[in-house]
Amino acid sequence: MIILGIESSCDESSAAVIEAPCRVLSNTVSSQIALHGPYGGVVPEIACREHVRALPAVISDALSQAGIGWGAIDAVAVTYGPGLASSLLVGLAAAKALSLRLEVPLIAVNHLQGHLFSPFLSPGMPEPAAVCPFVSLIVSGGHTCLVRVDAPGRGELLGQTIDDAAGEAFDKGANLLGLGYPGGPVLDRLAREGDPRYRRFPRGRVDAKSWTGGLDPRFCFSFSGLKTALRYYLADEPLAPDAGQRLRDVAASYQEAIVDALLRRVTAAMEQSGAGTLAVGGGVSLNSRLREALAALLASQGRQLLLTEPAYCGDNAAMVAAVAGLGLGGRGESVAARDVCPNLSVLEAY
Ligand code: KG4
Ligand code: ZN
Repeated sequence: MIILGIESSCDESSAAVIEAPCRVLSNTVSSQIALHGPYGGVVPEIACREHVRALPAVISDALSQAGIGWGAIDAVAVTYGPGLASSLLVGLAAAKALSLRLEVPLIAVNHLQGHLFSPFLSPGMPEPAAVCPFVSLIVSGGHTCLVRVDAPGRGELLGQTIDDAAGEAFDKGANLLGLGYPGGPVLDRLAREGDPRYRRFPRGRVDAKSWTGGLDPRFCFSFSGLKTALRYYLADEPLAPDAGQRLRDVAASYQEAIVDALLRRVTAAMEQSGAGTLAVGGGVSLNSRLREALAALLASQGRQLLLTEPAYCGDNAAMVAAVAGLGLGGRGESVAARDVCPNLSVLEAY
């Protein structure tokens, strides 16, 4: 079964062709970062207009990279949430039109499930069902959560952030350090030459179930206090324009607080779930310190770590098509009448 995937939930327009369940034949991503950079964040109105402009060429490119024509497509899979409503609408409208024109099923996919299964896109990875139950850590610009997956399509949300996402923590911290947007990758690079013990920043303790909507606080994250701690620290001890080594030390210390906060919750979740495998996806899983620290942690526990290949860490349509390839996602006649769901949570399916 050949599936065309379409992704437009935020600021990446992407199309991919996969052979079910998850063999990637092509994955074209057009990033809008340069357009949003000057504003310090994604501007929804610009994002949706750019999706309208970019998607036709992105879809054509995915088909030609895969070496197939329209007639080879057996189904169209599309992200219908979560994300920016106006951005989601563009991809969903394109997918509906293609499914009608090609007379193939439309499959509505939860974007977070795309990140959840993204580690399995790389050749040589086991099938998801073969490593169940596993724990999934999703760390992106908009989401941070821990899920126990009992079978593809079945599991439990263990914990999530109660305020900012890990990617937001990177971007807001980088912004305070004057590193531009999105600052995660720049902060990562600077931190490599810094001392992570230079300054201790808070790890964002979550104490009460009343803060987490009933989720176990041991598996939940809070990053907004970290950003505030950096703001006060810089107000007290400003960085000189030529801060050099001190900037790298502060960046490394700030990054260490985020990575350590993630590791503590992962440790608790692995212990509680009894899972033998951790699968990690989302844009923040590109972070070199996080990858290294997770590898050391899981090795010390004798557990398996499945990291997403860099090409599939950020938003992409291959992961969306793969969710459909695994037999998940909303199907049937009523899907064509469905609207986008900007606030979908990770285990909600259509
Ligand atoms: O998954 P993604 O592309 O978009 C969402 O679905 O949100 O993630 C983007 C986020 C941004 O916050 C970006 O700063 C962060 O991932 N990011 C990183 C790194 N590369 C991207 N954060 C830390 N270190 C990196 N190397
Ligand atoms: Zn995403």
